[in-house]
Formats: sequence, C-alpha cells, structure tokens
Amino acid sequence: MPSTVLHVVGARPNFMKMAPLLRALASDAGREHLLVHTGQHYDEHLNDAIFRDLGLRAPDIHLGVGSGSHAEQTAKIMVSFERVVAERRPAMVVVAGDVNSTIACAIVAAKAGVAVAHVEAGLRSFDRSMPEEINRIVTDRLTDLYLTPSPDADENLAREGVDPAGVVRVGNLMVDSVFSNLERARKGPALERLGLQRHGYALLTLHRPSNVDDPAVFARLLDAIEHLGRRMTVVFPVHPRTRARMGEGPLAARVAAAPGLKLTEPLGYLEFLQLQDASAMVLTDSGGIQEETTVLGVPCLTLRENTERPITITEGTNTLVGTSPERIVAAIDAVAPRGTVAPRIPDLWDGHAGPRAAAAIDAFLARRGV
Ligand code: UD1
Repeated sequence: MPSTVLHVVGARPNFMKMAPLLRALASDAGREHLLVHTGQHYDEHLNDAIFRDLGLRAPDIHLGVGSGSHAEQTAKIMVSFERVVAERRPAMVVVAGDVNSTIACAIVAAKAGVAVAHVEAGLRSFDRSMPEEINRIVTDRLTDLYLTPSPDADENLAREGVDPAGVVRVGNLMVDSVFSNLERARKGPALERLGLQRHGYALLTLHRPSNVDDPAVFARLLDAIEHLGRRMTVVFPVHPRTRARMGEGPLAARVAAAPGLKLTEPLGYLEFLQLQDASAMVLTDSGGIQEETTVLGVPCLTLRENTERPITITEGTNTLVGTSPERIVAAIDAVAPRGTVAPRIPDLWDGHAGPRAAAAIDAFLARRGV
C-alpha cells in the first residue's frame, strides 16, 4: 500500500497555496496525495468559483463543517478530521496559512503522531488580538516541516527556538498561482462588465473582525473611502462576513449612497486577479492581497496597524495605513501613478515555490523511509 499524505484546505486563501503544491506532487507516483476540504468556506463565491478558476480537483474527502464560533468551528473540524486520520493513517498532514482549519488539523495530526508540514510557516504579526496570529503560533509549535515564504519567517522561527533543520525556505506558493493564471486573467471580462478603465479605479476588500465588527471603526474607514470615491471608482467585492455586519442598518445605507463606490459579490479568482492587476491602487485588510499586489507591482494600502508580511513593505508595494481617516486619505493622495515605480519582488516569489515545497516534502518523507 502506498503511504498517504493528506493536504488540508478550508478557507479561500488556502486554495491558491495548495493548488501549485498538488500540481507539483502529481508526479509523485509512490505516494497517495489526498485533498481534504474541511468545509469552513462553503458558498459559491468563496469556494466553488475559486476551485473552478484554479483548476483544483474536487476534494477527495469533504468534512462539511460550515460556519460557527471559533471554538465550534475548530472543534467540529477536529472531531471530523480525527476520524479521517484514524481511518487513513497518513504519513503526513500538510496544512496551509493561518485559518481555523489549519490549527484544527495540525492539532489532530500532532496528537495522532502524524508529521505536520506547514505551508507559509513562520509569519507573525505579533498581534494576538488577531485570531490568525493564534492559529499561526499554535500551528508552528506542532509543525515538523516548516515551508517558509521569506527570511523574516525563518528569523521568527529561529527566535522561537525552532530547529533550523526542519525549516525549508521554499518561497511563496500563492505567487505561483498569480503567475500561472495572470495571462488568462488579463483576457477576462471583468473590466468591461464593471465599466472600468485600466488604472482608472481602486479596488477595496474588508473582512477582518477588527475592521468590520465594530461599526465605529467601519464608519471611520468609510470616511476615507468616500474621499477616494470622489476621485475615482472604488470597486468593493463584499465578503459575506462584512455583508452580515453591515446588515441593513445605517452603515449599509451609507455604503449604498457613497459616491463612486461600486459593490459586487465576492469575485472568482481570475476576475479578482484581473481587477487587481489593472487597478490604480488596492485598499485591503487581507493578508494574501498584500502579497499579490507586491508581485503585480500595484500600490497597496493595508488598513491595519501591523502585518505578518513585512517583506511586502520592505521589498514590495505595500504601505500600512491603519484605520484613521486622516492617515488613509494622506496615503491615498501620495500613491504614485501605476508604472512610475520600478517593481521589486522578494527572492523566491518566482512562480516555482510549488515544486520546491514538493521536493521538501519528498525529502522529509524519504528520510523517514516513507
Ligand atoms: C477566514 C479566515 C481568514 C481569511 C478569510 C478569507 C479564520 C480564523 N479566518 O475568515 O484568515 O482571511 O477566511 O475569506 O479562519 N460565510 C459565508 N459563506 C462561507 C463562509 C463563511 O457566508 O462560505 C460567513 C459566515 O457567516 C461566517 C462568516 O462568513 O460566520 C465568517 O466566516 P469564517 O470562515 O468563520 O471566517 P472569515 O471571516 O471568512
């Protein structure tokens, strides 16, 4: 019987990281690589459309857990995944990023004595009020093979006492997905469909609890967005979490009436990539978008006080602008026009991180005789 490796995805940002790894592992004939979907993200916009665009195969195992509080969601994933691990007895579980599915499956695997590989290990925002930071820290305490995207991640792990023998800097797998889909995305219909001019609009995403759960913070962000909307169209694909928080109250009315603001459903991967690539600037509180804008050379204003991806500032196009309207407006006014700044791309964000990660997994398992 060939040994089994379980690759876990749960939420939208996992899919772009796992797709290039699974592609690179397709030639590993000696082992069985299975895709497990926890079901954390389940709706058409956050799940099906992205799977389709990335050409990800249907999951081999689907846990179907759905939404819930952090404890509920994490616990449901653990209970279901424990059964899968008991049945399949994998040699390794591969988790990605920092979502609840990541921590849940890492805990189950570690307790079952199964090796854990973590894609995007070592990132730290040093802000434990972010649920993702807790997920990163706990996952990395339990990881055996750390697949890191950048030198800052390696340094964080070294500072936490991780043995460097288990750390392999493979680069950024999300960037593989950008490069392999960009040409196709550029030919897409999104600009025309939304009536947008290349480099003539801004793109906005918001979903962090710290930004959308408190109406006072959300309202202050809107002050700045209204300023931008008077200058250019602002396209705003609304995450379900944000849609729920806006409800039908005064915030929703203000968003609906804001000048220049164009709301859409969450977009597919290709359409969103096309819109990023052709935008004048991106405003976001996402993690992955800070990375995608860096490799696309698009100015990114991050609506947070900190980032677990500092390399997008030092070697990319990202600026941390916090949530105060004055600071965001000043940053918007200071954005350089597209094409006037030479792009910088961090080392190993080159579209070949998937094969490097696959090689690291192969070498790790081979050392264990698997
Ligand atoms: C999760 C991740 C976050 C990531 C984001 C990308 C955690 C802790 N957070 O946040 O790191 O940046 O995904 O989208 O794992 N919902 C739907 N349909 C879905 C999924 C969710 O309507 O398919 C709604 C539900 O009302 C749910 C809310 O969105 O309560 C939040 O979903 P959840 O997966 O808990 O976290 P996200 O905020 O999406």
